Amino acid sequence: MTQPHITLNNGITIPQVGLGVWQAKDGKEVEAAVSAALKAGYRMIDTAAVYGNEKGVGRAIKASGIPRDEIFVTTKLWNADQGYDKTLQAFAKSLERLQLDYIDLYLIHWPAPAANKYNDTWRAFEKIFNDGLARSIGVSNFKPHHLEDLLDHAVIPPAVNQIELHPQFPQHGTRLLCNQHDIAVESWSPLGGSTGGLLTNQKIIDIGHKHGKSAAQIIIRWHIENGSIVIPKSVHAERIEQNFDVFDFTLDADDMAQIATLDTGERIGADPDSTNFT
Ligand code: A2P
Repeated sequence: MTQPHITLNNGITIPQVGLGVWQAKDGKEVEAAVSAALKAGYRMIDTAAVYGNEKGVGRAIKASGIPRDEIFVTTKLWNADQGYDKTLQAFAKSLERLQLDYIDLYLIHWPAPAANKYNDTWRAFEKIFNDGLARSIGVSNFKPHHLEDLLDHAVIPPAVNQIELHPQFPQHGTRLLCNQHDIAVESWSPLGGSTGGLLTNQKIIDIGHKHGKSAAQIIIRWHIENGSIVIPKSVHAERIEQNFDVFDFTLDADDMAQIATLDTGERIGADPDSTNFT
C-alpha cells in the first residue's frame, strides 16, 4: 500500500503521515522509535530543538542506511532563539545535532507574540531557504491573526502551519485560512494526547469495529481524510507500526459526521497567544 503525500506550495512533497517524537527521550528511546518507524515504512520524522532529541533522531537516520533524500526531516526553532542572528545560529546547531547538511522543513515553533520577533525570525528563515539549507520553511502554532501579520511581511509564504489539531479541537478557522493561502496544515497531538480521552471514546471505538481498526487508526485516518499532515507520537514499536497501517481503508460520510460531534472547542495544549515560554 503506497503512502499518501501532500504537495506543498513550493512544489516539495511531504509524506502525509510521519513520526512525532515530542517527549521521546534522547538516546535509546528516540533512536529505537525512529528506527522502528523507518523499518515500518515511515519516511517523515518531526522533531524540534526544544525536544532535546535531535541527536538521537540524527543517529537513527544515519544508522538506517536509507538515502538522505528519501527521508523528510522537520525540526523547529525554539522561542528563545527567535530574532535574525540567533535564528541562523540555532539553525546551524540543529543541523549539527542532526548530522545533516539540510533540513526538509524548518518551523518557527511558536509565534511568541510578546517578544514580537517572528517577522524578523522569518527573514532569517527566508535566507536559510534561499541558501538551500531548508527545502521548505513554515510555522507552528500560528493563529489566523499571527499568520495574516506574517503574510503581510513575508516574501516567501510559509509552506506549513503545524497546530494542535484533533477531533476535539478541529481548528476550523485556522484550517480555512491556511487553505485560502495554500498553507498545508499539520496536526500535532493528533490523537488528542495521552490524557484527552479520544483513544477511549466509544464513538471512535465503534467506528474502529466497523473497519476492523483501532481508535488510533480511525483518528489518524480522520486527519488524512481532512487533508492534514499527521505526526502521531509513540515510542512503542507495535503502536508505531499500527499508526502507519492506515492506507487500506477510508472513513465514510457517516463516520466523519460522528467524529464531528466530538468537537469541544477546547485545547489540550497551550494557547499560542499567551505562550511565550523561553
Ligand atoms: P506512547 O508513546 O507511550 O505509545 P499524540 O500524538 O496525540 O500526542 O498522542 C500520543 C499519545 O498516544 C502518546 O502518549 C502515545 O504513547 C499514545 N499512542 C500513540 N499511538 C498509540 C496507539 N496506536 N494506541 C494507543 N496509544 C497510542
